[in-house]
Amino acid sequence: MFIFSNLATSIDGKIATASRVFFPLGTSADRKHMQTLRRKSDIVLFGASTLREFKRPCIVRGVAADGLKKQPANAIISSALEGISPDWPFFQSDEFHRILFVSADAPKATLKKFAVRSEIVVLKKPTPRLSTAKQIIQALEKRGYKRLLVEGGGGVMWDFVKENWIDEYHLTLTPRVVGGTQAPTLVDGAGLEPKEILNLKLKSVKKLKDELYLVYRKTVQRG
Ligand SMILES: NC(=O)c1ccc[n+]([C@@H]2O[C@H](COP(=O)([O-])OP(=O)(O)OC[C@H]3O[C@@H](n4cnc5c(N)ncnc54)[C@H](OP(=O)(O)O)[C@@H]3O)[C@@H](O)[C@H]2O)c1
Repeated sequence: MFIFSNLATSIDGKIATASRVFFPLGTSADRKHMQTLRRKSDIVLFGASTLREFKRPCIVRGVAADGLKKQPANAIISSALEGISPDWPFFQSDEFHRILFVSADAPKATLKKFAVRSEIVVLKKPTPRLSTAKQIIQALEKRGYKRLLVEGGGGVMWDFVKENWIDEYHLTLTPRVVGGTQAPTLVDGAGLEPKEILNLKLKSVKKLKDELYLVYRKTVQRG
């Protein structure tokens, strides 16, 4: 499976403010770019915190006009779907398939409410040999998905970054400063030690007015 990520950051590496309230960090050109990348995926994954703010699916606008046969599926990851409502727009459309990855101890009654309109995949307790990201990748490959687009936030990025699963990082650097120790960044979680740091290769740079569109490829080199 080819795994690529796409997020926009401020020049200080933040993807949102500390309040996590939803707002577009990039310009309309960045949102257009996001649509282009979604078209190249067959499934888009994002975290429960992003869904709690956005409440809507990550889809391609005007699929028919676009020549696309169908929308990319959407997958979210959450320990127990707390603070998420099945009444949100994310759960209303029949246009795309939804997969909810949840932890093993998520309450059955909650899962039942969501199972009406979504496929639920219960993750095993992660181990060093079978991490959460590996379980997600295996589940998606089993279902025939080939191109996974990870749209964040920093919590989900960490799951994939720590084991170097991301083949290509698409990053829009926006000319903005957000600040805040508690504001989420491109990759959060526990972070890597110096000898584990991932070294990437710059594939392309595009400048559009004050925004930079960067693409980095993974290498196997750490530290
Ligand atoms: N600028 C951008 O491009 C961009 C992109 C995406 C998001 N955002 C913004 O970023 C903010 C959200 O980012 P975030 O880093 O706070 O959160 P996030 O990555 O969207 O979601 C984190 C949540 O995902 C679930 N999760 C992640 N790993 C898990 C695991 N291994 N097992 C079980 N559940 C797991 C947990 O959900 P539960 O809490 O339910 O357990 C966790 O709290 C929002 O403000 C959003 O608007 C910006």
